Amino acid sequence: MAEIQMTTYDIVIFGASGFTGKHVVREALKFLSPNSPLKSLALAGRNLSKLSETLKWASKSPPTLPLLVADTSDTSSLRRMASQAKLVLNCVGPFRLHGDPVVDACVEAGCDYLDICGEPEFMERIEAVYHEKAVETGSLVISACGFDSIPAEFGFMFNSRQWVSPAAPNRVQAYLQLESDKRMVGNFATYESAVLGFANADNLIKLRRSGRRRARPSIPGYAPTKGSIIEYQKKLGLWALNLASADATVVRRTLSILTENPTGLHGVNEDPKVADKRIAFWSIVKPAHFGVKIGSKKLLGLLPWIAIGLSLMRLCGSSLGRWFLLTFPSVFSLGVFRKKGPTKEELESASFKMWFVGHGFSDANLASQRNATPDTEIITRVTGPDVGYLTTSIILVQCALIILERRGDLPKGGILTPGIVFGPTHLQDRLQENGVSFDLISKTQFYT
Ligand SMILES: NC(=O)c1ccc[n+]([C@@H]2O[C@H](COP(=O)([O-])OP(=O)(O)OC[C@H]3O[C@@H](n4cnc5c(N)ncnc54)[C@H](OP(=O)(O)O)[C@@H]3O)[C@@H](O)[C@H]2O)c1
Repeated sequence: MAEIQMTTYDIVIFGASGFTGKHVVREALKFLSPNSPLKSLALAGRNLSKLSETLKWASKSPPTLPLLVADTSDTSSLRRMASQAKLVLNCVGPFRLHGDPVVDACVEAGCDYLDICGEPEFMERIEAVYHEKAVETGSLVISACGFDSIPAEFGFMFNSRQWVSPAAPNRVQAYLQLESDKRMVGNFATYESAVLGFANADNLIKLRRSGRRRARPSIPGYAPTKGSIIEYQKKLGLWALNLASADATVVRRTLSILTENPTGLHGVNEDPKVADKRIAFWSIVKPAHFGVKIGSKKLLGLLPWIAIGLSLMRLCGSSLGRWFLLTFPSVFSLGVFRKKGPTKEELESASFKMWFVGHGFSDANLASQRNATPDTEIITRVTGPDVGYLTTSIILVQCALIILERRGDLPKGGILTPGIVFGPTHLQDRLQENGVSFDLISKTQFYT
């Protein structure tokens, strides 16, 4: 019997009808052309009429695109979708509930996979379960290709590359400043992901304990102390509070892979010139301790984040508590998260600045001296539009275009972090061209 040949699309956007998925479709359509790496695009989801509506929403004159039915509770539909894709962009979350079968289908089919997850447990679980198989089938699976955690990863690497030897950083502290003339609002699914993440924090600890020990980079000087819960960052004029985002965990995983592979990961079919570029890139990335805080010009601006943190800590532990949290998101987040998500006007007026304040040594050899304290500060910044939906769509689509354009320069397969895969590519330039900017703000040496 003759085999039925299925069409393969460059990209399939799964969860295209979701709040973020719709923005990803709109962004992807800008690059769909016979002269672009993105020549064919399909949308996938569980409801065909919602997918058609998405297409109408995303473009004034929508092209005719194939619409594929796929549901995370139906393995065969996921297998069918994966076998029709070079690359799946997964926008169906919370990922702890929906992500595993999608990764399974992509790894099995040997297609590539990117997502916009911000949930460390999901990322680390799929790494533990699927890495070897993904290397074998040649499936490149990269989670956290949205606002979580590319501005943090690339912002960190950008700061780290400003330290010209013998200078070296000891720590880079990021401060996320969200700005808007209107209300800043996030969609419910992100809040739900956070609630479920907090409720299952023990699973992440168990997963880490049961896995192999990760390599730790060698960082000059002592690890920074914890400091106060609320900090006033004088230089930036910001009040700041620790943000329990995935960013620091993703950066740590990248640095750990880099420690084991100091020249990065070679491409499956890499040109020698590209290999030289990769090696040169990683030779100037210096590891450092890293953390992220949410910052605000006014102390009161931290109130919603304090409310979210306290309510998650107090209520996540019981099913009744979670019911309250998930039923009344606006109440417990003081309006930051809403079941309906932000309006068009709210999205358009939102923007972010992510500051990276690096402290380190003008000469890394000084770090080994007793009581050596950092004598140099380098401040860099990443800026862009609304974090959740506009910046996330820009980033995801640019990562996807690099995969389509430069697949041979990238690792054969595996469950990897965005930093280790895209670090040496032109992703930062592409982001810059599309509205996410990287700037050096200041370099200061203190004389003690
Ligand atoms: N990294 C970042 O910075 C970032 C930014 C934004 C969002 N996110 C994450 O992205 C995820 C989605 O967020 P969102 O606000 O877009 O959520 P959303 O509006 O609720 O969209 C969820 C999408 O998943 C689909 N879906 C739900 N259950 C499904 C199933 N069983 N099978 C197939 N599809 C299913 C929905 O389909 P229907 O349309 O048929 O209901 C919808 O398309 C969340 O986990 C969120 O945390 C991350």
